[in-house]
Amino acid sequence: MGTYFNGFMFMRQVLFLTWFLLLLTITNSFSSLQLLCHEDESSALMQFKHRFVINKSVSSYPFAYPKVASWKNNSDCCSWDGVECSEDTGHVVSLDLSSSCLYGSINSNSSLFHLVHLRRLNLADNHFNYSQIPIRVTHLSRLEYLNLSLSKFSGQIPSELSQLAKLSSLDLSYNHEAYSKSLGTLVQNLTSIQKLLLSSVSIPSTIPESIANLSSLTHLVLFKCGLYGEFPVIIFQLPNLLILELGTDQDLVTGHLPAFNSSSPLKVLGLGATANDTLPQFETLGLGSCNLRMFPDFLRSQHKLQWLDLSGNGFQGLIPKWMYNASTDTLKVLMLSGNYLTGFEQSPAILPWSNLNVLLLSGNMLQGSLPILPPSIQSLEVSDNAFTEKFPPWVCNMTSLVELDLSNNRLSGTLHPCLGNFSRSLKVLSLQSNNFHGIIPKGWAKGGNLQVIDLSQNQLQGQLPRSLVHCSMLEFLHVGDNEIHDIFPFWLGTLAQLKILVLRSNGFHGVINDPETNDTFLKLRIIDLSHNDFSGNLPSRYFSQWNSMRAFDAKKLTYLLVGVDGDGWGGSFDYSFTITNKGKEQEYEKILDVLTVIDFSCNRFRGEIPEAVGNLTGLHLLNFSNNGLTGHIPSSLGNLKNLEAMDLAQNKLVGEIPPELVQLNFLAVFNVSNNSLTGPIPCGKQFDTFQISSFEHNPGLCGRPLSKTCGDSSLQRPSIFEENQGSKSLFEFDWKVVVIGYGCGLVVGIFIGQIMIPKEHDWFVRIFRKKQQTRGRVKGRK
Ligand SMILES: *[C@@H]1O[C@H](CO)[C@@H](O)[C@H](O)[C@H]1NC(C)=O
Ligand SMILES: *[C@@H]1O[C@H](CO)[C@@H](O)[C@H](O)[C@H]1NC(C)=O
Ligand SMILES: *[C@@H]1O[C@H](CO)[C@@H](O)[C@H](O)[C@H]1NC(C)=O
Ligand SMILES: *[C@@H]1O[C@H](CO)[C@@H](O)[C@H](O)[C@H]1NC(C)=O
Ligand SMILES: *[C@@H]1O[C@H](CO)[C@@H](O)[C@H](O)[C@H]1NC(C)=O
Ligand SMILES: *[C@@H]1O[C@H](CO)[C@@H](O)[C@H](O)[C@H]1NC(C)=O
Ligand SMILES: *[C@@H]1O[C@H](CO)[C@@H](O)[C@H](O)[C@H]1NC(C)=O
Ligand SMILES: *[C@@H]1O[C@H](CO)[C@@H](O)[C@H](O)[C@H]1NC(C)=O
Ligand SMILES: *[C@@H]1O[C@H](CO)[C@@H](O)[C@H](O)[C@H]1NC(C)=O
Ligand SMILES: *[C@@H]1O[C@H](CO)[C@@H](O)[C@H](O)[C@H]1NC(C)=O
Ligand SMILES: *[C@@H]1O[C@H](CO)[C@@H](O)[C@H](O)[C@H]1NC(C)=O
Ligand SMILES: *[C@@H]1O[C@H](CO)[C@@H](O)[C@H](O)[C@H]1NC(C)=O
Repeated sequence: MGTYFNGFMFMRQVLFLTWFLLLLTITNSFSSLQLLCHEDESSALMQFKHRFVINKSVSSYPFAYPKVASWKNNSDCCSWDGVECSEDTGHVVSLDLSSSCLYGSINSNSSLFHLVHLRRLNLADNHFNYSQIPIRVTHLSRLEYLNLSLSKFSGQIPSELSQLAKLSSLDLSYNHEAYSKSLGTLVQNLTSIQKLLLSSVSIPSTIPESIANLSSLTHLVLFKCGLYGEFPVIIFQLPNLLILELGTDQDLVTGHLPAFNSSSPLKVLGLGATANDTLPQFETLGLGSCNLRMFPDFLRSQHKLQWLDLSGNGFQGLIPKWMYNASTDTLKVLMLSGNYLTGFEQSPAILPWSNLNVLLLSGNMLQGSLPILPPSIQSLEVSDNAFTEKFPPWVCNMTSLVELDLSNNRLSGTLHPCLGNFSRSLKVLSLQSNNFHGIIPKGWAKGGNLQVIDLSQNQLQGQLPRSLVHCSMLEFLHVGDNEIHDIFPFWLGTLAQLKILVLRSNGFHGVINDPETNDTFLKLRIIDLSHNDFSGNLPSRYFSQWNSMRAFDAKKLTYLLVGVDGDGWGGSFDYSFTITNKGKEQEYEKILDVLTVIDFSCNRFRGEIPEAVGNLTGLHLLNFSNNGLTGHIPSSLGNLKNLEAMDLAQNKLVGEIPPELVQLNFLAVFNVSNNSLTGPIPCGKQFDTFQISSFEHNPGLCGRPLSKTCGDSSLQRPSIFEENQGSKSLFEFDWKVVVIGYGCGLVVGIFIGQIMIPKEHDWFVRIFRKKQQTRGRVKGRK
């Protein structure tokens, strides 16, 4: 802890000084032209300078230099290094002699105290020869910033400092020989204080609750102060507190952490290595996103932990061997996601926690083999790492697994035949984005709980196993971006819960025949067959059955997710996938359950677009591009009132663009380029926003935005629809809608962005979101 802390301090010094020097350079170059220093202040400064010898070895900042060396009689003191004057009055308002190699004592006689207009005083990192901090500092009653850190003051810190009513920042840290008898007396009247830094100043006292009166506090740093007693929990709840650091092994502060809620502004919580014995044995410990750099030492002596959250910190390197001794028998939930971990100090990593239910390692840099887990494991999330081994056969022994997320690694080999039947409780199986090859295992068992199967982005071959039909709870099946050769899996139509089916980018082929019954794919909302080799007509009979793609109930919007909280840890698995939205491939990590998509693009479908598509009024995205479709664009597509993107490009469509499409108020992307359409382009609303690229390569089309006019101006068909006033869209009720007047049309905001949350690759954000859910649960259990 010690080395880390010094390094941290040093960084702060470097940053602070660099910034300050830069500022000085700028301000000085201007101020020297305008200001003339007051003579008494000039001579006070000069006297102050002469009280010290310059000794380079007394300042520890590596770029320290004697700022006072440049101070000369008969020059404008406002231009001196470290001195800043008020532009209005010319009085010296800021003196920064930090790291200036000053060596000598300072007392109440010092001419410094003549500078009564000072608002900022920084004498940090000098050597004041063990002087006492002079009481006369209180004469500088305008002080807002006082920094005397690391400067060899000693003796009692005058409690009169508390009279500096304007002080917002007080830093007395690292004056090891200085002391105060009572923290309360020292700070109780500092009502404006925001930053209070007293590390390594001896304050053998308790921490009074009255500190919680200092409601402006943002930084409270009390390392190595020798404080003792119960830490008042109320201080954690200071409304502006960002940084709270206290404790080392010299301190005897006890206490417990409150249940932080999500509105707590606290960014850094440093609890150091408080003494082992004095810390209670925690059962639940949440130290997620606490800016920790190392595994906290006190965990060594925690023997009763059940729930430990260390996610979203800055841990680097290996998970230390000693962690294996922490709470070996009790630990059930271990969260280490979102760090920079590269592996396990002990290898092979046979995890010792015999009752572990939940292990979250996602979003690290873990390499090599997966850790070997106890059979108690229920949730294993190791996504977004660099694991490289072959599919580990021990997974077959994990009969309690509810969630297995190995996605986004470099795992290889074939999938074990046990995959479809090793765990009855399995709800989520995500092997997305690895290097698995070979066939998809065949034996998918009846009576299972699988809701999510994501095998996308591997090199899997062969057919879709027919036994998948046994997974009667299945909601999400994604096998996109593999090498599967099969016909359309009509037999999946009996899966009554299936909402999302993605077969994109495989070798699926053949004609999609009419369904044999009238009740197939009843819950389906998202179907992506793009980039395959399907042929024949579009499956109109399916379209007329897909009732869940019709209008939806906008009142209850929820995200698609699977609860996987085996041991009540509050976990859930969010459905996520990539979709071509508005011409761009976009990865989404959450999907609202109302999202409705048909993407049949890049196949060899022929024939006409069925009228029945116009009945799927819930549709948000419709993509039939890059096929061989013929005939007219059905005017029924004008009923798709939720549609945001319609892509019919690269077909052989003829006839006019139905003017009914102007009714589509949310249409942000429209593409009919590369067809054989004719006649005038409709005008009005969204149609006035589409660019030429939406229409080009249709030799018979005319009118705006194409340069070809329609000749007879009566053919330039005006909008036959009045602007839609009466009915409000789903989005106006539930989301902010950006409406920009645009010619005779409207551009309405891009809503898919709100229906699906784009994946954030920033792990901290993801972890944070997950933790918010988790915290809620934990509090509930208390
Ligand atoms: C006090 O000065 C030191 C040295 O310049 C610096 O590291 C520290 O951040 C300053 N403290 C405050 C509160 O600004
Ligand atoms: C500069 O001024 C100080 C105080 O006014 C005086 O003590 C010192 O002798 C002066 N130095 C020179 C070189 O004039
Ligand atoms: C400079 O400071 C160092 C360390 O504080 C001390 O040992 C040394 O004697 C000082 N040198 C002078 C010339 O004062
Ligand atoms: C520092 O204090 C010591 C002891 O009081 C004294 O002997 C020495 O001269 C002082 N050094 C300076 C530079 O003031
Ligand atoms: C302060 O200055 C006065 C007169 O200049 C002197 O008598 C006194 O000893 C000084 N006190 C200290 C602590 O230096
Ligand atoms: C703090 O303020 C109160 C009331 O003004 C006063 O009685 C007390 O002496 C002050 N404490 C200090 C340490 O200045
Ligand atoms: C300061 O806090 C104490 C204890 O929390 C309380 O009794 C007192 O009234 C507070 N004082 C002020 C001025 O708010
Ligand atoms: C979170 O804490 C703050 C301050 O302690 C409190 O005002 C707020 O009501 C709390 N919010 C929730 C959701 O508990
Ligand atoms: C805390 O525990 C560690 C490991 O058990 C030990 O090395 C260390 O000395 C202990 N510290 C105290 C203050 O007891
Ligand atoms: C699975 O468990 C059985 C019985 O405990 C054991 O014999 C076997 O080696 C395990 N298989 C794997 C791959 O770990
Ligand atoms: C399916 O529905 C169509 C028309 O809606 C009807 O003619 C046909 O008999 C139905 N088929 C079955 C098997 O129910
Ligand atoms: C569209 O739905 C309506 C009402 O359910 C139905 O009467 C009509 O036949 C459907 N049209 C097509 C083309 O399926």
